[in-house]
Order: sequence, then C-alpha cells, then structure tokens
Amino acid sequence: MGFATNVLNLPSILGPGCLVLSDEFNHASLILGLRLSGATVKVFQHNNAADLEKKLREALIHGHPRTRRPWKKAMIVVEGIYSMEGSICDLPNFIRIKKKYKTYLYVDEAHSIGALGPRGGGVVDYYGADPKDVDIHMGTFTKSFGAAGGYIAGSKELVNHLRVNSHAQSYAVSMSPPVAQQIITSMSIIMGKDGSNEGWCVGGACVSLASVCLMSWEFHLTHSSLNSTRMCLYTHEHRHTCCTALFCGKNETS
Ligand SMILES: Cc1ncc(COP(=O)(O)O)c(C=O)c1O
Repeated sequence: MGFATNVLNLPSILGPGCLVLSDEFNHASLILGLRLSGATVKVFQHNNAADLEKKLREALIHGHPRTRRPWKKAMIVVEGIYSMEGSICDLPNFIRIKKKYKTYLYVDEAHSIGALGPRGGGVVDYYGADPKDVDIHMGTFTKSFGAAGGYIAGSKELVNHLRVNSHAQSYAVSMSPPVAQQIITSMSIIMGKDGSNEGWCVGGACVSLASVCLMSWEFHLTHSSLNSTRMCLYTHEHRHTCCTALFCGKNETS
C-alpha cells in the first residue's frame, strides 16, 4: 500500500541534517515517513509556490538551526492531487524552484496516477512536464489500479539505493504474482494498450475504471445544481480530479 511506501522509503533517502519543505496538506503517510527519517521539516502553505520559495531560501541561507552547517540534502515533498481538497499541485512552479535552488522533488501521485493526464500518467503527464524533473515519483497501486502495494520510481541510482537500504525491501515479502498481474493489466487498460476504451480519456483527464463511478457521480452534481441546494462542492476548477469534498449546510451568504 501507498502508506507503507511513504513511511518505509522516506527514511531511506533522508536523515538528520537533511531539509524538507512539505506542503501543509500532505498525507499522514508522508508526515510519518518524514518524522521517522529525522530530517528537519518546514511546512509551507498549501500549493503556494511563493511561500515555499520564501521558506526554502531562508532555510538554505541560515543552514541547520543548531549547527549552522549547510544542509546535507534539501527536498520538496508534494502530492499530485490532494484527496481532501481536490487541488492539483502547481508542478511547473515547484519544478522551477527545485531547479533554481538545486533541491530534490518528491511527488506522491497516489490520487493522480491513472486518473490524470492524457495517458493517465498523473500530474507530470497532465502538465506535459519532463518526468526527469521529478526526482522521486511515488504512487500507490490500491486506487486506480485496484490492486495492492505501492511504487517509487526515479533514477537507476535511486532504485538501486532503495533495493539495498529500504526496510520495505529487506524486511517484507515481495508482491505476489496475481497482484503484479492485476497491476500490469489495469495499467494497460488505463493506457489503452488493451485495445478497449475502458480506460477512456476525457478532456485531458484519463479516467480509469476505478474512478468512473466517482466521476459520473460528480458530473451529476454540478456546481449550479448544488448551489440551488444548501450544499457546496469543493473541487478543482478544471474538474479533472476525481476527488470531491461535499459540504452540507452551506452558508448562503459566503
Ligand atoms: C497522498 C497519499 N499518499 C499515500 C496514501 C496511502 O495509500 P494507500 O491507501 O494505498 O495506503 C494516500 C491514501 O489515500 C494518499 O492520499
């Protein structure tokens, strides 16, 4: 599962003396993994590139608060789609900042992989960004793929490092063949490689089987129809996300 993927792999790539800039709405698994790593975590406002840049610059100038030494490593940690807000990460700006300050970028695509982008490739695919600009791609197989487990993708050095150093590799059994096959099959459906249109694309959003129910439900509950009721739909304006928060008892004056 994605939870274990974050919790068990983050401590293998970060440690004391490392700096992390983490979105305030990051998932609990990211928060726990970062805590276990012993890295210093600075939290920036949700999806706010300006706040991120300000806090990152300050932390890099001052160095480690106790020793004043330069950080061993700096990393920005964000999600592709935020499940509770439905917001899509401002990836182009995060890539710009990571290049400017020479930090690493970790993107958790738990909710975006298989659900966003013309080929279902997640937030990187959605923005047409170069996948190499994201140093660590993380995702889960429990959502769009309807299977179990999670993944970390990146450079060969990163993957080789995790193979040797991650507790998830050393102390847990590997994925069973039926689960691996389920992932391969659902991935080929999402990418349209099976010759069917079951993983169909709508206006730049690839909708996997697992998210069809949510999407069709959302289409029926348009903003206007909800406004006529006393409910409020909280989702991304492009409506590409399958994540929708619905609040009842909306204050009509707000
Ligand atoms: C951003 C994010 N990362 C990780 C996870 C954990 O994934 P899983 O449910 O596969 O353990 C979730 C779960 O919703 C999530 O939203």
